[in-house]
Amino acid sequence: MGNIINIKNINVSYGKNHVLKDVNIDIQEKDFFTFLGPSGCGKTTLLRLIAGFEQSQSGELLIAGKEVSKLNPWERDVGLVFQNYALWPHMTVFKNISFGLEEKKVPKNEINDRVDEVLELVGMQELKHRYPYQLSGGQQQRVALARTIVVRPKVLLLDEPLSNLDAKLRNQMRVELLELHNKLQITTIFVTHDQEEANSISDNIAIFNDGIIQQVGAPIDLYNHPKNLFVANFLGTINVLNGEIQNGYFKSTKNFKLQNMESENKSNCSLLIRPQNITFIRRSETDQLFEGKIESKEFLGNIIRYQVLSNDHLITVDNIHEGKEKIFSRNENVEFFINPEMSQVIQ
Ligand SMILES: Nc1ncnc2c1ncn2[C@@H]1O[C@H](COP(=O)(O)OP(=O)(O)OP(=O)(O)O)[C@@H](O)[C@H]1O
Ligand SMILES: [Mg+2]
Repeated sequence: MGNIINIKNINVSYGKNHVLKDVNIDIQEKDFFTFLGPSGCGKTTLLRLIAGFEQSQSGELLIAGKEVSKLNPWERDVGLVFQNYALWPHMTVFKNISFGLEEKKVPKNEINDRVDEVLELVGMQELKHRYPYQLSGGQQQRVALARTIVVRPKVLLLDEPLSNLDAKLRNQMRVELLELHNKLQITTIFVTHDQEEANSISDNIAIFNDGIIQQVGAPIDLYNHPKNLFVANFLGTINVLNGEIQNGYFKSTKNFKLQNMESENKSNCSLLIRPQNITFIRRSETDQLFEGKIESKEFLGNIIRYQVLSNDHLITVDNIHEGKEKIFSRNENVEFFINPEMSQVIQ
């Protein structure tokens, strides 16, 4: 499938504040694509740029192969759902949704049919005569979505649409959003600063930091093959040991050694290991055995997370909690195994 959006070398500054720095992203048709990054990194700015509410100082923006930078928002075939929904308070649910079609001079009969259709889609048929203040947060969210999809945009832009909802409703709306996406097959760009939310909902993610795209890819690929420390740390807990690779050995600055590394020689690199890829063992024939001492443990339900002191490194190890496994206590001496194939070297 082809790309529906090409963002090429985009730069945006507000005065001296360089907010988007040479951003390049291609988004495939029908993708559920997420902009993920900490607060202030430029996610909303890029979304508003795609929607036409923001101008770039340089770069190109193509939607369906057409350069749209000079087009007005309503000429771009995109629909933006704002972070705060921005429903019109003096209009009923029905009117909030029909308004965009009336502006486009769509015939009245067709308006009624199309509004009913989207009300059905988001499960709000019964509440169509209510005003926004008579709705819960989740219901307002559904109206905001319905109002945007009723005009049938090519691309749906959602700016942190779930952030005002409580945890339970968030999960429910996440599922509904995905179902809607599957039904409508509409390319969707979703903005969030919540890594778990991004992982659970996205086909692909672009990770932002300080206006720079760090990495783009499927959630699992980003998790398993982060390109840099920012991505590795942003997507969950990870052990980072700094050191060098010499002749198949990783040697940390504190003299912690791991052999059988596939990597070529490198000075000043980092070894990354996820806590679940370290295993406690009692006695083994492997040479990849390390000794350490339990510093602390944290019960997280499905896993027990230990901090293990080994060669002056504090290493996080996740042990699956099945009920039968040995539970270690503080100051207990342990041995553990690191599979070099499950670790990664970055520079
Ligand atoms: N109209 C504006 N004028 C000046 N600076 C702005 C303007 N809009 C955004 N900024 C600045 O640009 C940077 C990026 O803002 P943006 O809203 O894109 O961040 P964000 O990633 O969406 O953050 P959040 O997760 O908090 O919503 C911030 O430093 C912000 O202060
Ligand atoms: Mg924002």
